[in-house]
Amino acid sequence: MFFSSEKHPNIYTVRLKLRSPSFLDVNDVFDFCSDPDASKYADWSPHNTKGETRDYIAWLKRKASIQSFTWVIEKTDDQKVIGTISITEMDYSGKIATIGYTLSKQYQHKGYATEAVEGLIKYLFEDLFCERVQAKVMPENTASIRLLERVGMKKDALLKKGAYCKTACVDIYLYSITKNF
Ligand SMILES: CC(C)(COP(=O)(O)OP(=O)(O)OC[C@H]1O[C@@H](n2cnc3c(N)ncnc32)[C@H](O)[C@@H]1OP(=O)(O)O)[C@@H](O)C(=O)NCCC(=O)NCCS
Repeated sequence: MFFSSEKHPNIYTVRLKLRSPSFLDVNDVFDFCSDPDASKYADWSPHNTKGETRDYIAWLKRKASIQSFTWVIEKTDDQKVIGTISITEMDYSGKIATIGYTLSKQYQHKGYATEAVEGLIKYLFEDLFCERVQAKVMPENTASIRLLERVGMKKDALLKKGAYCKTACVDIYLYSITKNF
């Protein structure tokens, strides 16, 4: 195992700070986690209460590690938390990272998700020396596919029943970008 026990640092981009979640983020996180559209293509259900969001933040903190980590996406101009971005899985060598993200509907189509994903990819390649960053996306999630292609990812494959989503295995595309592409 090549990992230390250190967790991940904050990541800064032009307009955003990616940082560890805090219980003070409950209201902002509830805003997007309670939206059914945010979890439409994910393996979690919309939050019905802020208590669920608090439990979710507690769970994110508990499971935080080098191999699996979620940052909240904070706008630096007003400290508003507008989404989350994660390393959903790092392989045992620390060279292959799988990422995921969710952005509040109110803040979509402004390039924030692109900026956050580019910031995370840069961190993974330049600071963690990963060689491959990948993402799994459902074929009908066109906004996410556009985002992955915008940051330079290419489709590798269609994985038949490649992910479990809420009640069933679903087909997914595997996208990736490699170092020195
Ligand atoms: C996937 C998701 C994060 C994409 O969000 P998004 O708002 O489309 O992405 P961005 O914030 O990068 O915005 C990009 C859009 O804003 C436009 N835009 C405006 N200003 C921009 C800027 N400064 N920089 C880049 N794009 C900008 C782009 O043209 C683009 O529009 P287009 O997709 O119609 O071409 C969002 O749809 C989401 O959270 N979905 C629910 C959760 C989800 O599906 N997660 C992924 C699971 S695989």
